[in-house]
Amino acid sequence: MTFAPPTQRAPQAPVLPATPFRFIVHFVGRYRAWYAAMFTLETAQAVCGILIPYAIGQITRTVVQSGALSGEALQAVLDGLRQPLMLFIALSIGEVVFSRLAGTLQFTVGPRQRQAVTRDLYAWLQHHSHRFFSDNFAGALAHRVSETSVGVNQTLWMLLFDFWPVAIVLSVSVVLLAGAHAQLALFVGVWSVAFVALSYWLATKAQPHTIRAAAARSDTTGKIVDSVTNLTAARLFARLGFERQQLDAALATELAAVQRSVRYADRVRWFNYIAAAVLKVGILWYALDLWAAGQIHVGDFVMAVSLSLLIINEARNLSRRFLELFEYLGNVDNGVRAILRPHELVDATGARSQWRARGAIEFRDVSFGYAADKPVFKQLSVSIPAGQRVGLVGFSGSGKSTFVSLILRLYEPQQGRVCIDGTDIATLTQDALHEQVGLIPQDPTLFHRSLLDNIRYGRLEATDEEVREAARQAHADGFIQQMKDGYGSMVGERGVKLSGGQRQRIAIARVILKDAPVLILDEATSSLDSLTEQAIQETLDRVMQGKTVIVVAHRLSTIAHLDRILVFDAGRIVEDGSHAELLAARGAYWRLWSRQAGGFLPEDAGGRDGLARPVFDGQWVEAAPGVAARGAGRDDASEERDDRNGPDMEPEAVG
Ligand SMILES: Nc1ncnc2c1ncn2[C@@H]1O[C@H](COP(=O)(O)OP(=O)(O)O)[C@@H](O)[C@H]1O
Ligand SMILES: [Mg+2]
Repeated sequence: MTFAPPTQRAPQAPVLPATPFRFIVHFVGRYRAWYAAMFTLETAQAVCGILIPYAIGQITRTVVQSGALSGEALQAVLDGLRQPLMLFIALSIGEVVFSRLAGTLQFTVGPRQRQAVTRDLYAWLQHHSHRFFSDNFAGALAHRVSETSVGVNQTLWMLLFDFWPVAIVLSVSVVLLAGAHAQLALFVGVWSVAFVALSYWLATKAQPHTIRAAAARSDTTGKIVDSVTNLTAARLFARLGFERQQLDAALATELAAVQRSVRYADRVRWFNYIAAAVLKVGILWYALDLWAAGQIHVGDFVMAVSLSLLIINEARNLSRRFLELFEYLGNVDNGVRAILRPHELVDATGARSQWRARGAIEFRDVSFGYAADKPVFKQLSVSIPAGQRVGLVGFSGSGKSTFVSLILRLYEPQQGRVCIDGTDIATLTQDALHEQVGLIPQDPTLFHRSLLDNIRYGRLEATDEEVREAARQAHADGFIQQMKDGYGSMVGERGVKLSGGQRQRIAIARVILKDAPVLILDEATSSLDSLTEQAIQETLDRVMQGKTVIVVAHRLSTIAHLDRILVFDAGRIVEDGSHAELLAARGAYWRLWSRQAGGFLPEDAGGRDGLARPVFDGQWVEAAPGVAARGAGRDDASEERDDRNGPDMEPEAVG
């Protein structure tokens, strides 16, 4: 296959070859004793099967010889019949026993092997980067894992139980016939080679059709899934009929593709039937001819005809089996390609795994962009001492979340270093780093597990009572108690059965339990109503004590009381200081704060350009009328304002 094997592997991930062929061989190697046994049994079974016509030939030979005899001579011949008869019986029994033994092994090792593939692929998948999971759909990845594990089994069973017996039957037939008559053997040999080659060729010809048919089928499924996901929208726009038409169009495309594929399969079947007839008629006619000419014995004639029937039986549908083999191999190939890509971000060799942070965070000349040609940060340097509580402010897209992601090492800076307590975080294991940092994201997702389990995720050994206490602190206890199953309630996929605010409170409880020295809140309370937010703010302030804290917030009121505020603008930190200092500086922060304060600003703000456009230029602009009215009469956004209750920032301006 045409892609590079993994060049980078997380040390915790299993060693896996990244081409489908070597991947399959790898698992055969893991169960090599089983495969050796199955291979032997399957060979024995096929040989027994093919020797049966030979035994029949021997019996026939004896019976025919006995025709002209009588008395003692006949008795002697009939005694001689016992040997081929015993052979026939032994072969028949052997065929059954070997085949069943091989089957037993198959059913024993098959599920184990499938689980081993699943386990290893999953372990590899886990260590992919944050970026990888933003670029790939979770459902598609999960599907690939199961498809690949099934595909490995299917490929191996196909080779072992379908192709290998055919190979034996064809080659042993030729050998047996060679014993009787060289040219008869040649006829079957040529037929076999031509048959296998043509079957393979037809399968390669049919493959594009079957691939297109399968793609059309999965396309239809995808459209149905999308339509079902958006069913509420379809209903509310009265577009149910429209959606059915969309489906009909997809089904029509699918039908055309499937029909082409089926028609091709039918042609392949024609080939199979004709080839079988050629073999049957050819052998019968040719062997009969040879017998009439006295060149072969009637016993060989019977054997030849029996062999031809056996070959036809074994080799039937060879094209279709090739097609299936391609499909299974294709599945393995897809999975290996999608999942076994090099890990983008791995722990350095010898990275520290035991580490306790005090929490001093430092960016040293950090340059980073999601795409190399679109930098978010250019040589950003900033230092946050341990125990400082810092608020990040700035327009949407100014780089606040990216800043947080770099501290968490979800991405790696292209240049420069991010250090905690002077240690480059790239020299720590990711686990060691993440143990020391608690994150409450803007849109936390939850496991489809009970609420108890979701909160306990912060500290697995926490008691039920500790979990409840954390929930109480996060003001989640109230709504949890009201749920039907309380703490045992399941929350739906990603937590869909909870409101955004409820999910945030669960995420807060979980981080409270974790109690890490660095705490990051990225718009952590943005989905809460202001009353709940105020209540939680007290908890958060308590939780923040003694920690290094970074708070990204929509509402300036939630960060105004912190030790320090960093104002981000297009990836640069344009202002840095306490709330009071920044207001006094009358810069970008001051403009944002004033805007929140109600839109009334003295005229001298009017001419400045920068982060927030001037709000007042002789008339009321931008601020909502109600807010403006409240703010009217105030001459400035005053520093004496009760920070905690500062007004909200307009959502479209910041965040
Ligand atoms: N996963 C991502 N892939 C590519 N670009 C991104 C990604 N996340 C953010 N960006 C871009 O990076 C810039 C900074 O975004 P972000 O840090 O999320 O800003 P903020 O949190 O301040 O709103 C924006 O231009 C945004 O479009
Ligand atoms: Mg953000």
